[in-house]
Amino acid sequence: MIPELPKASSLVCLNGEFLPADQAKVSVWDRGFIFGDAVYEVCRLYRGRPWLEEEHFARLERSLGELEIRGIDLSLLKKRMYRLIGKSQVSEGLAYVQITRGVAPRAHAFPEPPVPPTEFIAIKPYDDAKTQASRVSGVKIISHPDQRWGRCDIKSTNLLANCLALEHVKRQGGFEAALFDKQGLITEATHSSILWVIGGRIFGTPGEDNILPGCTRLLAGQLADRLGKKIEDSKISLENLKKVDEVLLMGTSIEVMPVVTVDETTIGSGKPGPIGTELQAAYRESVREWLDRTVVIS
Ligand SMILES: Cc1ncc(COP(=O)(O)O)c(C=O)c1O
Repeated sequence: MIPELPKASSLVCLNGEFLPADQAKVSVWDRGFIFGDAVYEVCRLYRGRPWLEEEHFARLERSLGELEIRGIDLSLLKKRMYRLIGKSQVSEGLAYVQITRGVAPRAHAFPEPPVPPTEFIAIKPYDDAKTQASRVSGVKIISHPDQRWGRCDIKSTNLLANCLALEHVKRQGGFEAALFDKQGLITEATHSSILWVIGGRIFGTPGEDNILPGCTRLLAGQLADRLGKKIEDSKISLENLKKVDEVLLMGTSIEVMPVVTVDETTIGSGKPGPIGTELQAAYRESVREWLDRTVVIS
């Protein structure tokens, strides 16, 4: 069965133009298509409002800067994203933003003079019900070597190693991958960050160039603060990850997801632990507070 694409009629925004997805065309010479020379962001929409928008746009700006992709007006991009959300009338959803270096004859070096970047925005509905069921049961993660490139701090669309790892995991009935580097140390998951808890203390891998600085993890730091805790930088081997009290995944759509199995090893009691549960409750509380505070501008 062919998986369903988002509706062909759903509106997207391509280079400032709002049009149905099946009418939006990108050149075959776009460097995003040819080289994966592109960056992206995904924002969760709660009641049609982009959550952690500042954080996502700050990361986008950084990714663009690191790849020297210039010519994007971020405030205009935001306005277009808001217009598209309004036109799409999606309440619970995800906003996807992608910028490529643009269209140029195929050559590895950057086009000289630079060409205008390609800007793409799409909105899709997100049904949290299945994710919520997984939050309640907890999920299984499966170890996989981290075969990604050396600049995972950039949110680039070059995600082949992530896709291969997740495919391997899915075929074994897992939810996400526990990626480990050549030293056997955990880096992160394919599209989420990993934290772990030992004796009530929360740990996570330090933000270096081998992991993406997760917006959800950043928020988790503030939420931990509210609980009188902090997230401490640390490194952990795959072997030791299997001995901790709690393992947590964090990401834009999963929020805080408890892990109850790593490979064949049960974590803690085999049920979501107290810290993950508290963090998830604090997460939702913080969304509620923000929704109450946010004025709708249409
Ligand atoms: C590799 C990787 N790590 C972590 C994350 C979590 O980031 P965020 O919390 O900003 O969604 C993502 C999100 O896509 C990711 O791709």
